[in-house]
Amino acid sequence: MSTQSNTARKVQEKMSFNTLLIEEKGNVGIITFNRPNAQNALSNELTQELGIALEQNENNPHIRVTIITGGEKVFAAGADIKEMADKNYPQAYQEDFITRTWEKISQCRKPIIAAVSGYALGGGCEIAMMCDFIIASDSAKFGQPEVTIGTIPGAGGTQRLTRFIGKSKAMEMCLTGRVIDAQEAERSGLVSRVVPQAKFAEEVLNVAQKISTFSQPSVFMIKESVNRAYETTLSEGIRFERRLFQSTFATNDQKEGMAAFVAKRQPNFKDN
Ligand code: CAA
Repeated sequence: MSTQSNTARKVQEKMSFNTLLIEEKGNVGIITFNRPNAQNALSNELTQELGIALEQNENNPHIRVTIITGGEKVFAAGADIKEMADKNYPQAYQEDFITRTWEKISQCRKPIIAAVSGYALGGGCEIAMMCDFIIASDSAKFGQPEVTIGTIPGAGGTQRLTRFIGKSKAMEMCLTGRVIDAQEAERSGLVSRVVPQAKFAEEVLNVAQKISTFSQPSVFMIKESVNRAYETTLSEGIRFERRLFQSTFATNDQKEGMAAFVAKRQPNFKDN
């Protein structure tokens, strides 16, 4: 485990990114968008690098949770408008514009938290929604303003936003480009909670670190099971959850977790 972990860390140390900052804090990997002169616009290079950084975290046994953030000022102001402005339809279609590089987030098995401060617009809001949950600072602002530049959301905005906040508000936001603040986002169910800016980075890290202490099989199963709710009927989803729940009784970590509760001590999970 430690040899594997050292190898993964060496690979990560060698990899340098132009548009991302990469950090490890304990078992948490932090990926920060780093295009300060372009409001962290999601260029092709940035989304490709994001895919690589996420793949590294998936393969690095030392990292158990990833935080994606844009730093304090802006999460991301959407796809790079300057880069895509002259694209034509055959190009967009042939390169399957957006799908190929962007969807990596939703394919990761390890939990990913979006930590949103400032604007998360267009593709920025869509990237945040691809993560497992969103924690917002009180400066966060969310919107799908694509209609104002002659296009529509293209990285799942009309679909994921509708599932998060319901048809009426999603329709209004997408049809008008109206931007909502952190409080409205929390009221609508888009974000799990709002944290004051001064404590934001620390609090998001605490949440990630907490998740990193739990048994990884349970964490993976919870993620898979919650995501299943979006893909299936209630009865099939419950059947899926029940089978996963029952399967945890084959793990040592279930025995350890329950024994620790009864003995009034902290559990020592071993991911098996
Ligand atoms: N793409 C490329 N460049 C962008 C950008 C974007 N999405 N957003 C901002 N920038 C650039 C600006 O052009 C500007 O560059 P210059 O200094 O070279 O002029 C720089 O970042 C600073 O931006 P502003 O001067 O506009 O900063 P502001 O504080 O006045 O406004 C903002 C901030 C409200 C976020 C504003 O920049 C804005 O509205 N950005 C565009 C938002 C948008 O329409 N996003 C949707 C993109 S389409 C999409 O995402 C499709 C999809 O579904 C995937």
